[in-house]
Amino acid sequence: MPSLNVVVLAAGKGTRMFSDKPKVLHQIAGKSLLGHVLDTARALNAERIVTVLGHQAERVRETLEGSEVQAVIQEPQLGTAHAVQQALPFLHPEALALVLYGDVPLVRPETLDKLLDSVKPGGMAVLTARVSQPRGLGRIIRDANGQVIRIVEEKDATAEERAINEINSGIMALPVSALLRWLPRIEPANAQGEYYLTDVVALAVAEGLAVHTVLAEDEKEVAGVNDRVQLADLERSFQRRQAEKFMLAGLGLRDPARFDVRGELRFGRDVEIDINVVFNGRVVLGDNVRISANCFLSDCEIGPGSVIHANTVIREARIGARCDIGPFARIRPGSDIAETARIGNFVEVKKSRIGKGSKVNHLSYVGDSELGQDVNIGAGTITCNYDGVNKSQTLIGDGVFIGSNTALVAPVRIADGATVAAGSVITRDVAAGQLAVARGRQENKDGWQRPRKRT
Ligand code: UD1
Ligand code: CA
Repeated sequence: MPSLNVVVLAAGKGTRMFSDKPKVLHQIAGKSLLGHVLDTARALNAERIVTVLGHQAERVRETLEGSEVQAVIQEPQLGTAHAVQQALPFLHPEALALVLYGDVPLVRPETLDKLLDSVKPGGMAVLTARVSQPRGLGRIIRDANGQVIRIVEEKDATAEERAINEINSGIMALPVSALLRWLPRIEPANAQGEYYLTDVVALAVAEGLAVHTVLAEDEKEVAGVNDRVQLADLERSFQRRQAEKFMLAGLGLRDPARFDVRGELRFGRDVEIDINVVFNGRVVLGDNVRISANCFLSDCEIGPGSVIHANTVIREARIGARCDIGPFARIRPGSDIAETARIGNFVEVKKSRIGKGSKVNHLSYVGDSELGQDVNIGAGTITCNYDGVNKSQTLIGDGVFIGSNTALVAPVRIADGATVAAGSVITRDVAAGQLAVARGRQENKDGWQRPRKRT
């Protein structure tokens, strides 16, 4: 087998996105269209990957910095053959070239492997598909024996040819040596005045070489993104494909149509996920984790047996085993919640460690804090961690009880076993076992007369 060189065409304009962002940088499942294609090329163990950039080339090129991917600029953009020609100097003359499109993100490595396997020495192969709506696409023209003889673009096609529903995906595999031979011979003698890469098919046939086709099983694999409707459609296809893979590996999904993973999800046994949960970045779910509806989990780890109740947001945090989080909890970056802890409704935790078995059940803000084990934080308690300039720490020992509606003005330390009375504003440290009361003393006045309205 000759080595594989992949050429990714991505110079096109993307007018129909109506976006300032280059089309190939729009995302599916949190990864750019181009990123999907490059990962597919990597999965094929391509020896070289060359991207052809044009429209907003600099912005796309920036995203490739530090990677092994070579970028070449096509300026002006005179068609797909012209695009491949710009990549030619970077290809190995004895390699097999695979042409991919930066805006066709869902083609699978398995399908491309089939395509590559079908290339006979000297010959070439084209990935095709049968589609219900061939409009705008190149049609595969076969002779009486069913052999491919050429590809005709929609704009150059006769009415009869337009009726053909086998289309050119644009993805093809052929020797670099053949490209070196054929590309200089392609003329822009067509309705669009472009250099068509598809003309290589007729050139191969003229040389008596075999042109093979592989039919994509799934229409979505060859579908391109030209507008935001197609982008959203492929997002759903991708999510569906991913959800099925997860379910077949044992993940319990209430509804795969309302499940989104934008990154990498790992999960244990008997994990159950309700509807409208979004996973972002790298998320790890332990055995028996349950996640209720409408949660957003980003770059976090949830320990075995923990339950995340509805409408909870967790970012860059670690939740231990058998915790109970939410509903309506917000766990922010740098938080570490130890096993069996409980974070209840309308509680925000930021950059804090919550010890084993501790409870912050209602309407609280805990920021820049360390809580020991079995701490109880009463409803409405907040840590005042910010003086407008500095962030300060609140340290709370094991077994501490903080009464409701307490303000803990950091930096402050509440030692083991201490109690803070409800409604306190705590500005000084509290020693182990002490009771701190820091609020106005209640006065009850006898014989009090309410003011009366004059008649
Ligand atoms: C092309 C094929 C058509 C096929 C269709 C599939 C040709 C002549 N036609 O159509 O048979 O059915 O793709 O989507 O090849 N690009 C460049 N430089 C250019 C022109 C295009 O890099 O000068 C890139 C685009 O960014 C895009 C890809 O090539 O990723 C295809 O271009 P596009 O204009 O969408 O395809 P068509 O030429 O319409
Ligand atoms: Ca297109």
